[in-house]
Amino acid sequence: MGKQHSDGRAGTRPRHRFAPKTKREPSARDYREGWAPAGRALRLGGRDGKVPAVNVREARAEDAGAMASVIAIVAEEGVLLIEPPVEIEARAKRFREVIEGESRAKLWVLEHERRLVGDGGVLETSADGVLSVAIAILPDARGIGGGRALLEVIVAYAFSCGAHKLELEVWPDNTRAIGLYESAGFEAEGLRRNHYRRRDGTLRSALVMARAL
Ligand SMILES: CC(C)(COP(=O)(O)OP(=O)(O)OC[C@H]1O[C@@H](n2cnc3c(N)ncnc32)[C@H](O)[C@@H]1OP(=O)(O)O)[C@@H](O)C(=O)NCCC(=O)NCCS
Repeated sequence: MGKQHSDGRAGTRPRHRFAPKTKREPSARDYREGWAPAGRALRLGGRDGKVPAVNVREARAEDAGAMASVIAIVAEEGVLLIEPPVEIEARAKRFREVIEGESRAKLWVLEHERRLVGDGGVLETSADGVLSVAIAILPDARGIGGGRALLEVIVAYAFSCGAHKLELEVWPDNTRAIGLYESAGFEAEGLRRNHYRRRDGTLRSALVMARAL
């Protein structure tokens, strides 16, 4: 019997077609030899007609508004470090700057049935070679492999651009995100205790997770 997630969702669905045939984690060599290279559109599911297909592609400047809307909607759930309400214009401008910029920062979008349903990417941090990861998917497009597809492209890109580490912060009760990151080789590095003050004055701790490349 396939494994079952806490929300009752069965954990058995096809991996995308670039996944290694063995059960092992893709190695650095897999990535260097072209497994899911950065920028290649990944297509997941859809082959047996049961699982809807999701697509990952590099973000374009014209996606910035829709990407900002995704962040605004997801932020309302309280699952992101970004606190609502999100100023869509300002967020879209920041996305556009990253998309058109020359740094190692990079963004991708997730599409489902031709609709932009999520985005993810990496930003540079103060530590050279360490990139921070962020992913957000609309509620109705979760659980169909989009998070994993985005993360796989992100990890492949991080290898290809010479970064030595990926890091992120997540709320400790965000079990779905933690499950995704752990399954991709991320480990908890520590807890930033009472680190973030929310608008209501409360302080929240964030879990730091990272993966060496
Ligand atoms: C976290 C998020 C990116 C995961 O994306 P997703 O499309 O829902 O997840 P996927 O279908 O790709 O599943 C990937 C893995 O996540 C984990 N996962 C998914 N749903 C889960 C659940 N309900 N409980 C526990 N783990 C879960 C599993 O490891 C799963 O892999 P598997 O199904 O092969 O075992 C997405 O749910 C999301 O955007 N959430 C809101 C924003 C957010 O929390 N972002 C991260 C902040 S750091």
